[in-house]
Amino acid sequence: MARRRPSAKTLPEPVVDSAAASSFRRRLHRWYRANARDLPWRRTRDPYRILVSELMLQQTQVSRVLDFYARFLERFPTLDALASARPQRVLEAWSGLGYYARARNLHALAREVHGNKNGVIPAEPDALRALPGIGAYTAGAVASFAYEKRAALVDTNVARVLQRYFAPGLPLKTGAGLRRLWSIAQQLLPRTGAQTWTHNQALMELGALVCSARAPQCPLCPVRRGCASSDSLQKAKRPTKVGRVPRKPK
Ligand code: ADE
Repeated sequence: MARRRPSAKTLPEPVVDSAAASSFRRRLHRWYRANARDLPWRRTRDPYRILVSELMLQQTQVSRVLDFYARFLERFPTLDALASARPQRVLEAWSGLGYYARARNLHALAREVHGNKNGVIPAEPDALRALPGIGAYTAGAVASFAYEKRAALVDTNVARVLQRYFAPGLPLKTGAGLRRLWSIAQQLLPRTGAQTWTHNQALMELGALVCSARAPQCPLCPVRRGCASSDSLQKAKRPTKVGRVPRKPK
């Protein structure tokens, strides 16, 4: 019998129990402190440097961004240096990373902030979202990573982690599904902005290193207890009897 795909509209609004949320956070943050990669944009709170990293990371893998990031910042070490550069120079520095709209948006953003905001990148997600190239995810990332604001974020990695743990079956690519994942992310936030920095980095890191799309490493996961998908993900990895080649009868 054909099963109907779950529709986010028929699912209830998510409510995250506060004791469950705090246990999830405690285990996640402990794991992050022991396992996080040492990445240059995690060693700074400079909003410009964080903005550059987030725009580069929007469509490009970490390993590839690392080279470009250092070189770009050598050429344009500050927002003012970027704002006064010629467009061609900015595109040259971006060359090889692809998706050049990101470079054009970053340049337009630098010029707008330089011209209209005294060179200060806004700290609040709503003000950030009004800038070129900044969507809900990047606004949450800059607010929490640069300014340690208590702002949620959901990118592809975080969406997958939250969906698997809290809402298996929730469609990841529909507006209604994403709205629910943002609601879960918001309910999961720790109390302070400083903890939010760790929390958001940790969710992204778990999605990148353990709760990956194709090969989730559930046995290594700090939050496998309580995860609504861990059993089914692990079963899916084991070879099934159906797939075995039958022995010839003697
Ligand atoms: N992708 C986007 N932002 C990131 C971050 N801060 N760390 C690792 N990967 C990321």
